[in-house]
Amino acid sequence: MGCVSLSADVTHGFASRTLPHSAPLTIRTSRLGATTSESADRSSLTIAAAGNSDLIFPTESEIGDASEFVSQPTALSPARPFVKWAGGKRQLLPDLLHRVPQSFRHYHEPFVGGGALFFSLCEQQRLDGKAVRLTDINVELINTYRIVRDRVETLISLLSTFKNDERFYYNIRALDLKQLDPVQRAARFIFLNKTCFNGLFRENRQGRFNVPFGHYKQAQICAPNDLRAASFALRGVCLEVASFKDIEAACQSGDFVYCDPPYAPVSRTASFTAYNGGGFGEEDQQRLADVVRVLGERGVHVLLSNSAVPLTYALYRELHVEEVLARRAINSRGDRRGRVPELLVAAGPLAAELLARRQVGSVAAATIAE
Ligand SMILES: C[S@@+](CC[C@H](N)C(=O)[O-])C[C@H]1O[C@@H](n2cnc3c(N)ncnc32)[C@H](O)[C@@H]1O
Repeated sequence: MGCVSLSADVTHGFASRTLPHSAPLTIRTSRLGATTSESADRSSLTIAAAGNSDLIFPTESEIGDASEFVSQPTALSPARPFVKWAGGKRQLLPDLLHRVPQSFRHYHEPFVGGGALFFSLCEQQRLDGKAVRLTDINVELINTYRIVRDRVETLISLLSTFKNDERFYYNIRALDLKQLDPVQRAARFIFLNKTCFNGLFRENRQGRFNVPFGHYKQAQICAPNDLRAASFALRGVCLEVASFKDIEAACQSGDFVYCDPPYAPVSRTASFTAYNGGGFGEEDQQRLADVVRVLGERGVHVLLSNSAVPLTYALYRELHVEEVLARRAINSRGDRRGRVPELLVAAGPLAAELLARRQVGSVAAATIAE
């Protein structure tokens, strides 16, 4: 499965986390590459971009002998998403946190994106001692998570040499991923995310990132302490490139799954589902609803967020559905960035738990009648 194991308690393929997550950090020194399971060729970090002789990644000796392993607590930032992500759930966090099951076994996020709920649960120490599996279909995103987990100091060293400059941006964007090692790909990914227009991730049909430069006066390309805090939160976490369709095989009764798919479009023009070349169409929404229902029937706690549109009301009408108001950030027209209704769906034992809580008045939102 390619996941790191932190303890002997390995349950169906990934390890329970035994580390506290809200604790601040110190760095344990190790040789470059000594702590990673990645198979990168680290013979040299120098790569000339095609046709751009001035674009060169620093060499290993320029970066220095990086410390990789974030371990004992001293003082650091709270763990939070290290990328801006379309559909990121920071706005909706209070509503989501309120609906997390009281107790559960392992935690799964099959559409992890920026991981807003994961990092928040870490901060609240609600994932301590639990196995965690974060997956997404976006290969570059998952590579970046792995590098943040395993090689954070090398990443920081490399990223701190990047600049918020248009020419530099297009040179980095033009690099051939096949020519880069995993650390370089992760640095490129974070750099593009922080400096591109609106933090979007969009690829053309050939799978090439095609978002233009953002022209931000200030862009925080490298935030070392945020990356270290994220690295610490990710220790022991299983990170994989996977379709949501794999989630059924990975879950057992008592686990908690949070699904945050690309939203069903609220209108023909407002659709944003291009997190990868493939998109996420109505068939995927239908298939996901089937998966959610099956998991619920197997005793898995499922929480799902989606847009409140006729399609999603229809897909989830047999499950526990609540409507909440959320702020939408991604819309090409600024005047349409307002508070919009979104659906939260629960299946499995979580649905009964939320219903019981509602009956005693602790959940304010109304269940939507069919
Ligand atoms: C709404 S975003 C998730 C945002 C995330 N909750 C956050 O807080 O940033 C949806 C994610 O689903 C991923 N995705 C799209 N199609 C997928 C699929 N078929 N299987 C798994 N993940 C997919 C995208 O790459 C994207 O990261």
